[in-house]
Amino acid sequence: MPRRIILDCDPGHDDAIAILLAAGSPEIDLVAITTVSGNQALAKVTRNALAIAELAGLDAVPIAAGAGRPLVRAVEYAPQIHGESGLDGPDLPEPTRLLDVRHAARLIIDLVMDSEPGSLTLVPTGPLTNIALAARLEPRIVDRVREVVFMGGGVHVGNWSATAEFNIVADPEAAAIVVGESWPVTMVGLDATHQALAGPDVRTRLRAVGTASARVVDELLEFYGGAYLSSQGFDAPPVHDPVAVAHVIDPTLLTVVRAPLDVELRGALTLGMTVADLRSPAPEGTTTSVALAVDASRFWSHVEDALARLP
Ligand code: BDR
Ligand code: CA
Repeated sequence: MPRRIILDCDPGHDDAIAILLAAGSPEIDLVAITTVSGNQALAKVTRNALAIAELAGLDAVPIAAGAGRPLVRAVEYAPQIHGESGLDGPDLPEPTRLLDVRHAARLIIDLVMDSEPGSLTLVPTGPLTNIALAARLEPRIVDRVREVVFMGGGVHVGNWSATAEFNIVADPEAAAIVVGESWPVTMVGLDATHQALAGPDVRTRLRAVGTASARVVDELLEFYGGAYLSSQGFDAPPVHDPVAVAHVIDPTLLTVVRAPLDVELRGALTLGMTVADLRSPAPEGTTTSVALAVDASRFWSHVEDALARLP
C-alpha cells in the first residue's frame, strides 16, 4: 500500500524536487499539497507549487495556501538561495488550475479527520506554521496522524545561524509546538541533508533521464547550485527537502535515532536551535527521532526513477 502523505512546503528549489519525487514514486500517494510562507512570500510559493503540479500532471491533488507569516516572529524569506520568485531558473508552465479554497491548516484537518486513524503522514518541508496551527485548531489530529516527517533543524549544524536551520528559525514557536506534541515526529535535518549533494555526477545522472520534469530539475539545480556556492560556499548544493519524502518511500535510507527533541526559544545565540538528547538509551515514551545520515547514492536513485516516471 502506498503511504498517504500531505506535503506542506514553500517552493523553493528543493521543495519543488520534493513534490516531483512524491509525484513520481509509486510508494507515495500524494493526498494534498499545502503551502506556507518561507523561502518567499506565500503568493509566490503557492504559485510555484501550482506550476510544479502542472508540470507533474498532478491535476487531482488539492493545493491550498496557508500561513503568510510565522506565529510570533517577523517574516523572513531566503532570496539569496531561491531568488526573487522563490523558484528562479527554469521557465515553468502557467498554472491552469484553481487553489482549494480552504486554508492549508483547515485542509490538513479535514483530510486527517476524514482518513483512517494512522493512515496519513504529514511531510512539512518549510516553516512549521501550518502544522502547528492545525494541531491547535483541531487537537484530535495529533492522535490520528501516523507520523510527522519534517525537513528542518540539525543536531550538530545550522545554516541560518551558527546553531539554527532556516525552517526552524523562521518560525521557532511553531516548530516547538510540532515537536512537543505526542505524535511520532522524525526530524530530517542538516546532518542528513548536507550529504544529499547535487554534484556533477548526480547532475549527469538526472540530465540523462530526459523527461520535461528532469529538464526542469536540471535548470533548478543550475540556479540553486550557483546560489549555494556564492552564499554558503558549497561546491555542490545540498538538496534538503526530498530527503524527507525519501524517508517515507524507504525508511532504510536514513540513519535515524530515537531521541528527545526540543527547540530553543530564548537563546540569544541559539534561537531556533533543535536540541536532541542523544544520550542512550532514550527514555521510555520518547516519540521524537532524528536523522543523522543518508545513503546518498540510493537517495538519488529514487529521484532519478521518479523523474523518469513523470511527464
Ligand atoms: C530548508 O530551507 C529552505 O531554504 C529549503 O527549502 C529547505 O526546506 C533548508 O534549510
Ligand atoms: Ca523548503
